[in-house]
Amino acid sequence: MKKTAILLPLVLLALSAQAQPSGRILWNDGWTFTKDGNSRLLDLPHDWGVDGEFRQEYPGESGKLAWWGEAVYSKELIVNDLSGTILLEVDGAMSNSEVYVNGRKAGEWPYGYASWAVDLSEELKEGSNTVQIRLDNKPESSRWYPGGGIYRNVWLRHAEPVAVSHWGTFITTSVDAPKATVRQELRFSAQHPVAARITTVVRRQDGTKVAEVSSDAAVSDSSTLVQEFVIDNPSLWSPEHPYMYCAETSIDGSRETYRTPFGIREARFLPDGFYLNGEKTFLRGVCLHHDAGALGAKWSDDAWRRRLGMLKDMGCNAIRCTHNPPAPEFLDLCDSLGFLVIDEFTDTWTYPKKKNGYATLFDAWAEKDLVAMIHRDRNHPSVILWSIGNECGEQGDSTRWWIPQMLSDICHREDPTRQTTAGNDNPKAAGTAYASTIDVYGFNYKPHLYEEFVKDHPSQPVYGSETASCISTRGFYRFPVEQEKGRGWAIEAPYQVSSYDLYAPRWATKPDYEWQFEDIVPECAGEFVWTGYDYLGEPTPFDRGVEAPSRSSYFGIIDLAGFPKDRYYLYQARWRPDLPMAHILPHWNWPGREGEITPVHVYTSGDEAELFVNGKSLGRKVKEGYRIVWDDVRYESGTVEVVAYKNGLEWARDAVRSSGEASGVELSVDYLGDDLIYVYAEILDKDGVPVPDACNVLEFSVKGGGRIIATDAGDPTSHIPFCSSSLPAFGGKASVIVRRTSSGPIRIQSKSKGLKQASIRIE
Ligand code: GAL
Repeated sequence: MKKTAILLPLVLLALSAQAQPSGRILWNDGWTFTKDGNSRLLDLPHDWGVDGEFRQEYPGESGKLAWWGEAVYSKELIVNDLSGTILLEVDGAMSNSEVYVNGRKAGEWPYGYASWAVDLSEELKEGSNTVQIRLDNKPESSRWYPGGGIYRNVWLRHAEPVAVSHWGTFITTSVDAPKATVRQELRFSAQHPVAARITTVVRRQDGTKVAEVSSDAAVSDSSTLVQEFVIDNPSLWSPEHPYMYCAETSIDGSRETYRTPFGIREARFLPDGFYLNGEKTFLRGVCLHHDAGALGAKWSDDAWRRRLGMLKDMGCNAIRCTHNPPAPEFLDLCDSLGFLVIDEFTDTWTYPKKKNGYATLFDAWAEKDLVAMIHRDRNHPSVILWSIGNECGEQGDSTRWWIPQMLSDICHREDPTRQTTAGNDNPKAAGTAYASTIDVYGFNYKPHLYEEFVKDHPSQPVYGSETASCISTRGFYRFPVEQEKGRGWAIEAPYQVSSYDLYAPRWATKPDYEWQFEDIVPECAGEFVWTGYDYLGEPTPFDRGVEAPSRSSYFGIIDLAGFPKDRYYLYQARWRPDLPMAHILPHWNWPGREGEITPVHVYTSGDEAELFVNGKSLGRKVKEGYRIVWDDVRYESGTVEVVAYKNGLEWARDAVRSSGEASGVELSVDYLGDDLIYVYAEILDKDGVPVPDACNVLEFSVKGGGRIIATDAGDPTSHIPFCSSSLPAFGGKASVIVRRTSSGPIRIQSKSKGLKQASIRIE
């Protein structure tokens, strides 16, 4: 066990952007982890599921990884000063956490997606103490891969006897140009009621002071204080201009500063759409699960900064956190990168979806969990809606509509500034009084009902809380190309889904279907595509009742390893109409298909395009709908090229070439973070043309200041452990994630039998 000594005076630490006191320290390092009789030392965040191996006999629905079981994390805490309170703050532990200090229970929190804090003070003694977090992850508790372990950050806060309490600030803003009023409500923890002077300074992003207020107040455990500031010519927050302010609160005589980052913006859903700072803004959203592919559920700032960056480039401006509250740092990233967020509480109320799922906790914990989510997240300008649930069975049960009503009421009580929503799949629910239990109505896969809803509920906003659920495998195409959904795959090897972006499970549709309705119902506030990224578990259509190796989803616009699928460009074409771009599918390596019909689809932000095969024009076509299709192309090896036009002028080009045999590998740095580096490997022929169907085994190694922590190639059927440093390329590509271990240069190398070696140096 690693020792931590807690000492006053408190050190000033600026560890992350979330609301926090200066005396809080990250408490991730050196935990002893014990599971199944084995113990080892590790640093948090940790996910024991993804550390293990994939097994065919494990359920594909939850990722074919063993995330269940009991485990204990322990660490020594040396206390030299028992004044004030010592809080253990856990951002997320999966699940049924119980906290023990010196063998005595100090607290518990069962919901694995909640953030929570336990006051350890009562149980601590001066000198050495043992803190234990015991987890119990029950099987049959999740519809996807939940992860196992303390998978987010853990903090320790030594608060002074009089302090701003845990999540003790609530900032709201109102804009009345050219001014904004900022209102901060404060709550305190105080061992005895006292009179105190409380000062808050508001700073701009660059640190300049824009306001300061001091208040003399009687401070006790139950007291609140409101401070107001007027800011002239505020910089408003928006996805395009994610400008942040910070309120720094201190109590006279205390060394702590409680920092609350916030943004100034007005966000409101009206019956005709979503308005941000008075401007109608269409939500170009995606749904996201909490795992980061090969890292499992483990929180990583770099992994998510990279992921969000790719979504931003696609034109995405909104995220629905499905179906649970995200890591707090996820919202910090959304604040600073500029995303509009639906913060979701749960996938289940009292109607169970899994035997040991949230329904078993609902009665005792729903209010506490929901309040925890709101208190933690209500200062983030990115959060625009509270979602109280997803596809809950109660939609169709009028005897239980008091549940969504109660949950919405709790949201309004804890945060009068935001509206509530839920993801709804029951087509009849919209026509019942259930609809009025939430403020903003979200349809999952029912775009054909938008128009009727608007007619029947002229004062209630509406949007697509889940859309499309198109499925595909990057780089995999199946012929003949069937137009119908359900024909892009076969329940047999290789258990992949054709990437023509036409296919979806029974309840879902191709993206184009959704858009037809968005385009005729201007009141629809936006859509949240299922999903932005592939995720672990839920490998529809190869899950329920199918003996397939599949362990991760096919829904993603981007695959699990982070490579964009064709669909990425279909969304980019729609969501970034001003970006000149064109994208051709499929790839053009079809030996043996010479002379056979091989349809070519083009995704472009242009309005017309001309296609050439080996220089011969196949005609110029106008975009009718959302893609331009040449259904009668006969395959001949060579080059397919498209020239896209907009308003009659050349706008963008793309080309795909048939490649020769695999000859070498190209390594490129896709993302360079402070902690993680993502390197892409692509297999090329001797002329440097990508080989789109190459599956050579690549072996990676690292020299210098880094080590490989995971590899992935985006194949949803692969059972190679993510920690392996060698794996077959999939669709000609693979990615490797390297953790920096020192500030020195790093050399990353890839070897593969029969291919030229490649290496890349990172300074
Ligand atoms: C929805 C559900 C999601 C996911 C999706 C797959 O019905 O809300 O969690 O299962 O289907 O299409």
